[in-house]
Amino acid sequence: MELTERVAIITGASRGLGFEIAKAYAARGLRLIIAARGEEALSSAETELAKETEVIALALDISQDAERLVQTGLDRFGRIDVLVNNASELGPSPMPALEAYPWEELERVYRVNVLAPLHLTQLVLPGMKERGEGVIINVSSDAGVEAYPGWGGYGSSKAALEHISRTLAAELEDSGVRVYAVDPGDMNTEMHRSAEPGVDLSDLPDPSASAPAFVSLVEDEPASGRYQAQELVAALR
Ligand SMILES: NC(=O)c1ccc[n+]([C@@H]2O[C@H](COP(=O)([O-])OP(=O)(O)OC[C@H]3O[C@@H](n4cnc5c(N)ncnc54)[C@H](OP(=O)(O)O)[C@@H]3O)[C@@H](O)[C@H]2O)c1
Repeated sequence: MELTERVAIITGASRGLGFEIAKAYAARGLRLIIAARGEEALSSAETELAKETEVIALALDISQDAERLVQTGLDRFGRIDVLVNNASELGPSPMPALEAYPWEELERVYRVNVLAPLHLTQLVLPGMKERGEGVIINVSSDAGVEAYPGWGGYGSSKAALEHISRTLAAELEDSGVRVYAVDPGDMNTEMHRSAEPGVDLSDLPDPSASAPAFVSLVEDEPASGRYQAQELVAALR
């Protein structure tokens, strides 16, 4: 897929991995629609990205405002070529065992991590199918595959997102739309610091190390499937 002139939605792009993906896409000429709830960080991200590309920034919660996010992008740019479902909810910190997991909090984790990405996918798919091309990237985690004590709420939401990705890929096999689940690997971000309060995570990679994998998924057009970001980055060297 030629990247210039393409349009990407990236959720959770005010900081962490989402912002790094947005910077990498902006540098390649994609136009962007970015979203996060906190206005201040989002506005700083918008200012930085606007130096490189056209960008719309919407302060919203993806579990409540998916339609507005997609419609604003379509009204401005007329198309969405890439959807990166990156925004995610960790749940309570410190993370409770499933035995004691508060139901309302788990419902919120599933709304943000599973239902909102599927909803956004449903909203962008008609245009992608009509053009016979498009890319859906769902950011997952090794916690969606491995069973780590305390990570069961978040991890099971990522497992659901992975299964949704696999099923969508099968359903869209001949449509030209590719669907990926990507494990970005451990990163030193606000989310990870909330997951392990009090632990020094300064040795973990910066999220910028994973961003080139997200460029490769769009540009190099590997088959739909599950990818590990660091493996993709290593293959690029
Ligand atoms: N960090 C790791 O080690 C690691 C490992 C494996 C997978 N991941 C995955 O990588 C992705 C990025 O995580 P990160 O570590 O970069 O997290 P982060 O630094 O905490 O960034 C999360 C971003 O999502 C936004 N966000 C959260 N909930 C939202 C909502 N309901 N609606 C709209 N925006 C929302 C946040 O902004 P607001 O809070 O202002 O809304 C922020 O922009 C996530 O899918 C995460 O599960 C991370």
